[in-house]
Amino acid sequence: MYETIETAKDDAVLVVTLNRPDALNALNAQLMAELSDALKQAEGDNAVGAIVITGSEKAFAAGADIKEMASGEFATMYLEDKVSSGFDQINRCRKPIIAAVAGYALGGGCELAMACDFILAADTAKFGQPEITIGAIPGAGGTQRLARSVGKAKAMELCLTGRMMAADEAERCGLVSRVVPAADLNSEAIETAKKIAGFSRPVTLMVKEAVNRAFETSLQEGLLFERRSFHAVFALEDQAEGMAAFVEKRKPAFKNK
Ligand code: CAA
Repeated sequence: MYETIETAKDDAVLVVTLNRPDALNALNAQLMAELSDALKQAEGDNAVGAIVITGSEKAFAAGADIKEMASGEFATMYLEDKVSSGFDQINRCRKPIIAAVAGYALGGGCELAMACDFILAADTAKFGQPEITIGAIPGAGGTQRLARSVGKAKAMELCLTGRMMAADEAERCGLVSRVVPAADLNSEAIETAKKIAGFSRPVTLMVKEAVNRAFETSLQEGLLFERRSFHAVFALEDQAEGMAAFVEKRKPAFKNK
């Protein structure tokens, strides 16, 4: 059905593999449209509780497709906005998305990984925003999400020099949640996603909303939002089940309600 991505279900996890090996998974308009479509389907599919986006051993994605973009003009880039607007569906997705990154995650590839909820990195991962080296600037969150994630100094340096950052540096500065051996990356990401998908779905979505709120609002507003969400879980059967299971020393059976 898709040509530039592959999708597979593993229990309650949708695994999306970017698949343009000849272009190091460069994000062209078709790939972004197919990725958006897959995420939209997953959002409406009750059988999916979490999503993993991954690439190949060599590249998660080496950026927006430079060959497709090279002859772009302001009017078409502005009006069509095919690559950047492909990120809208990712931003809209309420279910948790893990980026499993091995090899290059550059430009739009780094931005795609950062648009996910967290990044698990292989020890081979390399992150960067090299747009400046081709006469452009990041166009899908590179200056904004990187600065929020790693702070101004490192974000400025990476965007102004285009240098690549290896996995250990990315972990030290908080861009990635964990680094694992490359051979274990996909299994580790899928196991992590399965764990998340095994919790109460509404609670999972509330956690995602609440953490994201931290980047959109003041501390006091964010704390209030979190507190109200905490109160709201007491309207769920899953809260009663989870706490009863703890007291009764058994595994909870969540019903996603
Ligand atoms: N777009 C289109 N094609 C790309 C690509 C890209 N971003 N990155 C790699 N490719 C293609 C190459 O052109 C090459 O194709 P051919 O065999 O047909 O020549 C193939 O993938 C393999 O690439 P290399 O031969 O260059 O592989 P390498 O191992 O020597 O180098 C690399 C790997 C360092 C990642 C290098 O490919 C590279 O620098 N890529 C471009 C990185 C970049 O500048 N990304 C930012 C893009 S702009 C952007 O993303 C804007 C935004 O914010 C939305």
